[in-house]
Amino acid sequence: MPDLDPALAPVLPRTAEVTPEGHLALGGCDAVDLAKEFGTPLYVFDEEELRATCRAYREAFASRYEQSAVVYAAKAYLGRWLAALVAEEGLGMDVVSGGELAVARSAGFPLERVLFHGSNKSAQELREAVDAGIGRIVIDNFHELGLLDDVAGGLGKRQPVLVRVSPNVDPHTHVKTTTGVLDTKFGFAIEGGQAEEAVVQALARSNLELLGLHCHLGSPIFELDPYRQANDVMIAFAARMGERHGLELREYSPGGGFAVQVLRGEPAPSPGDYAEAVVDSLRAALAREGLGEPSLTVEPGRAIVARAGVALYTVGARKELPGVRTYVSVDGGMADNIRPPMYDSQYAGIVANKPLDERRETITVAGKYCESGDILLKDADLPPLEPGDILALPASGAYNLPMASNYNAGLRPPVVLVRDGEAKLMRHRETYEDLTRADVWPLE
Ligand code: LLP
Repeated sequence: MPDLDPALAPVLPRTAEVTPEGHLALGGCDAVDLAKEFGTPLYVFDEEELRATCRAYREAFASRYEQSAVVYAAKAYLGRWLAALVAEEGLGMDVVSGGELAVARSAGFPLERVLFHGSNKSAQELREAVDAGIGRIVIDNFHELGLLDDVAGGLGKRQPVLVRVSPNVDPHTHVKTTTGVLDTKFGFAIEGGQAEEAVVQALARSNLELLGLHCHLGSPIFELDPYRQANDVMIAFAARMGERHGLELREYSPGGGFAVQVLRGEPAPSPGDYAEAVVDSLRAALAREGLGEPSLTVEPGRAIVARAGVALYTVGARKELPGVRTYVSVDGGMADNIRPPMYDSQYAGIVANKPLDERRETITVAGKYCESGDILLKDADLPPLEPGDILALPASGAYNLPMASNYNAGLRPPVVLVRDGEAKLMRHRETYEDLTRADVWPLE
């Protein structure tokens, strides 16, 4: 049996292969059998790929910078099973809501390794976090600074915090996922003095222990230079804050945003490439400013989970408009993957029951939801598709499921974890009962 197109290997989990029957296999499981057993749409995560990626990121940073921590940004995807796996691999976790924190806690995630982000955390969320003994809270704005000081004081605790700064560096990614520029809702701007004022206030609050500074540029970032620029700006700022206000930079985070390859021929830097760019430029900036080495925290989300996850759909209706376009519909779409309509995200499609067939048609793969914009693949080169074919979209492990909805009362898909030929259900497909569970009914 010939191998898969080598150009597709980097977008699939490393265990991907073609079975003797000519089907796509993931983690030793035939994807067509998985679709049959669990139904579609189905999200398959490859355990070996996940663990190897966690280790690659840990190793890439730890080998270059001893005092470093890799903190998984749970917004990319969170389930109890994944929280447990990430904890086992020695990563921390970045949460952005009371909900994410609750899921992490319910899986027994070590809370000292958790960082709490968010641009408008509520008093309730802050209370839950401080009370639980969360590792660090990343302060985003003045409102939160005062609120957190009160909350921590009320609980009789001194909370370790970082201050989030926007360094005004453009990472050249989608405008909707750009966060570290001047015109953003996130963090304190250096221009105009707000970041300095935040440092002054955080140092003055007796219930806050200011450990250092944080920034996050955007997602996904295919270039290395924005990290270097951000480190220069941030470390120069830290040095000024040290001179003027006595800030001691004990921890520093340049955030996450590391990209993964999603399309053939569009590679992303490796974990080692990112680590080298971050660490080398950080060391150079620290030396230039005469600062000692703080601990370094990075927050990859997408880079940890994207490649491990493959979405499987079943092909249904076909509509041909000669000279215009051919639409083929699948049984999922924007309710399980809003990313194409939201960010014009593209994917590489692979037909799991005939992954080696020649791609001789140009097909637009539509979802099943009632919107013209519900398109998963636009004008993709694919083998001719027939009803019942199983279409796999690789690199679907990040942001699809956490952004999924019940639009058109669709049922959010199940998740299976595959390894060594075994598939384990990690999350059930939702049921019709789930759709009405939160309704007050019958009405009085
Ligand atoms: N740290 C902070 C403070 C963040 O805001 C984010 C992502 C990350 C880390 C992780 O970024 P990553 O390593 O995953 O690139 N929904 C969009 C992505 C939004 C990212 C939001 N913040 C998408 O589907 O592409």
